[in-house]
Amino acid sequence: MNEKGLLRRGFINWFLGTSVVGLLASAVYPVLRFLSPPDRPEAATTQVEAGATNDSELLEKGFKIVRFGSEPIILIRVGEGDFRAFTATCTHLDCIVEYQKGEHRIWCNCHNGEYDLTGRNVSGPPPRPLTALTVNLVGGGPKQPDTIVISRS
Ligand code: FES
Repeated sequence: MNEKGLLRRGFINWFLGTSVVGLLASAVYPVLRFLSPPDRPEAATTQVEAGATNDSELLEKGFKIVRFGSEPIILIRVGEGDFRAFTATCTHLDCIVEYQKGEHRIWCNCHNGEYDLTGRNVSGPPPRPLTALTVNLVGGGPKQPDTIVISRS
């Protein structure tokens, strides 16, 4: 093989080698970042604003799921000015619960688990009650709807 052929072969070997290294690095790096915890822990969430009291979803369905940090929370409108909030993760196998307005119950459709409006497990497989959170209504001013603020009890 002449010198030109050796140069070409060397370039192709270098090109393929760096491509394989690049491909491996692009696959391994995200996995390593996922597996290694962040340097700083997530700040603990102490309260969240969950919207206005006249929220259309709350008025129509009677509930909505809101984020409390990384945790899903179910906010329920039981009646005029009566709002309740609980952890939305079923205590059986972690499905997300919903509020059944007509039945006045919190229900888990995974295995027909049922909670009352205090979060107490009343039927089905859930072994523990839902954790209740504190709901405060913060005045929005004249002719303005209140803001719903959820905090840890
Ligand atoms: S996960 Fe809710 S009843 Fe099983």
